[in-house]
Amino acid sequence: MINVWEYAAEFALEKQEIYEAIDTVFSSGRLILGPQTEAFEEKFAKWCGANFSVGVGNGTDAIFLACKALGLQSGDEVITVANTAVPTVSAIVAAGGVPVFVDVNPDTYLMDINLVEKKISAKTKLIIPVHLYGQMVDMDPLMALAGKYKIQVIEDCAQAHGAKYKGRTAGTIGDVAAFSFYPTKILGAYGDAGLCLTSNEVVRDKLRRLRFYGMEKNYYSIEHGYNSRIDELQAAILLKKLEHLTSYIKARQKIARIYDHGLRGTSFILPQSAPQNEHAYYLYVLRHSRRDEVIRLLSEKLINVNISYPWPIHTMKAFDHLQYKLGDLPHTELVAAEIFSLPMYPQLEESQQFRVMDVLREIDHQLS
Ligand SMILES: Cc1ncc(COP(=O)(O)O)c(C=O)c1O
Repeated sequence: MINVWEYAAEFALEKQEIYEAIDTVFSSGRLILGPQTEAFEEKFAKWCGANFSVGVGNGTDAIFLACKALGLQSGDEVITVANTAVPTVSAIVAAGGVPVFVDVNPDTYLMDINLVEKKISAKTKLIIPVHLYGQMVDMDPLMALAGKYKIQVIEDCAQAHGAKYKGRTAGTIGDVAAFSFYPTKILGAYGDAGLCLTSNEVVRDKLRRLRFYGMEKNYYSIEHGYNSRIDELQAAILLKKLEHLTSYIKARQKIARIYDHGLRGTSFILPQSAPQNEHAYYLYVLRHSRRDEVIRLLSEKLINVNISYPWPIHTMKAFDHLQYKLGDLPHTELVAAEIFSLPMYPQLEESQQFRVMDVLREIDHQLS
């Protein structure tokens, strides 16, 4: 069986460092918001090229707290996409916002910037571009629009650690960026963890209070807050793994080049990287009009793939109240019906990559 993702090989390689990280924390007497958190926050911000970061419980909380820190009020509109993970949108709703969806670009499957201005209203408070699959949204025109209408921008970077746009790293362009370190992510923890990145000191201080009951000092809240702290244990592990982040991304890009090369000329539509982007390949997303048959045939050959995501958010029962209907976001809906993602993680062996390509080429032949 070739899995779409697994961490066993990575753990085997890094076991020693991870156990050392765990030992450091358990022996330190500080289990929450201690030196590992501070060191990871500082080093991750520096790695990205931002001034500050605030570790939080998970990526969903990072979006939620970023919305709160930027002053989202109940009923404010937040422009985003429906081709994303549910948490992008559930965090907006939890923060009191009303999600407003724009369709995606049919080539990159990311927010279509040309459609954003039409969705801006007097109630628009935020825009949340999602750098899905490891590739960044076209940020320059988006920031220009946001500036024109005085709207703030939160980058959803859950899938885009180390992705670049015109040489700038994901998370350094908007007002705040939200990261997830869910285990499958490009930089993954051994449990849940998340982080907000910002270069604004006032926003950083607000985020620090919001994750800690609204407090700056113990037992005294100066504003309404929450509890969403990165775990000291996860921070220590992430600090070790951060040293490997550049090589993780290089390994992913190498696998993508091999897939690109092997699948060119077949009926599969390959991922398209916009020319200004450096794709970090969290996922390698293919597209085929007979996707479900392709997946069935792959599973017969013990190759496991995934669909991110099969149901656009606006078609889900949980979001009925937003009153979208099928047909409202035609590119999003078509993409959801045709995409699937191939096995992709840094330790995926070359023989496995070639096996995936050979089987896909056989399937291409069979279906033509
Ligand atoms: C695009 C996107 N946004 C937000 C999240 C939420 O992150 P988490 O699972 O850490 O809450 C995820 C990951 O699941 C994601 O892929």
